Amino acid sequence: MTITDDFYSLLSTTRSIRRIRNTPVDSHILDRVCQAAIWAPSGGNRQPWRMIAVTDTAIKQELSRIYVSEWEKYVDFNLAKLGNQPDDVIERVRAQFSTGTSLAENLADVPVVMMFVHDPSALYVTDAGLNRHPVVGGASLYPAVQNLLLAARAEGLGGVLTTLICSRENELRELLKFPDGWGVHAMVPLGYPVGQHGPLQRAPLNTMLHMNTWA
Ligand SMILES: Cc1cc2nc3c(=O)[nH]c(=O)nc-3n(C[C@H](O)[C@H](O)[C@H](O)COP(=O)(O)O)c2cc1C
Repeated sequence: MTITDDFYSLLSTTRSIRRIRNTPVDSHILDRVCQAAIWAPSGGNRQPWRMIAVTDTAIKQELSRIYVSEWEKYVDFNLAKLGNQPDDVIERVRAQFSTGTSLAENLADVPVVMMFVHDPSALYVTDAGLNRHPVVGGASLYPAVQNLLLAARAEGLGGVLTTLICSRENELRELLKFPDGWGVHAMVPLGYPVGQHGPLQRAPLNTMLHMNTWA
């Protein structure tokens, strides 16, 4: 295997890991994956974000309490979309959410919960004036989260980019004591996976890539 093969193998097996062992993560490994996050680009190289690595059980319990309630709303929203489907169909769909439910309920046992916070005033949002949701601001924030996930994969760790908790910013600010005006853009539970790093399910290249024009 060349370094190139290894690299593509790493990319193609970095899936969401929601079942995580409570085995601690060495601080030097945590430092390495956090350094990888810092190597990510941001607009104007302003790096308008910070990480809070939560290992304290009491704080993780609070994160779990908040996340469970948002996760349950998300599951209910998806089940409601099924309408009057038979019970077995509803149960099958509910089962698809079971690893997510398990993560939410067991978040306090995950060794490290990485919280990503940002300063919105430092973002230069080039699509802010258009008649749709602006997305460019996130481009200065999420590359770091993905770098962290890829580095975690290289270390044999796993995690998942989650955002459901972000709506509870005010409670999170009190809990984590980040500055007024800052926001939360991701929570990444991190640790050694129960299962395997795995193959990804993604659309094929020929449906995603257009050459020269969309036509
Ligand atoms: C912007 C974004 C938000 C996400 N939020 C959550 C979340 O709140 N909870 C969760 O369990 N997974 C969340 N995910 C993980 C996705 O569900 C997951 O990446 C996707 O289903 C593909 O699965 P895979 O990563 O295993 O290939 C999020 C992913 C992204 C990119």
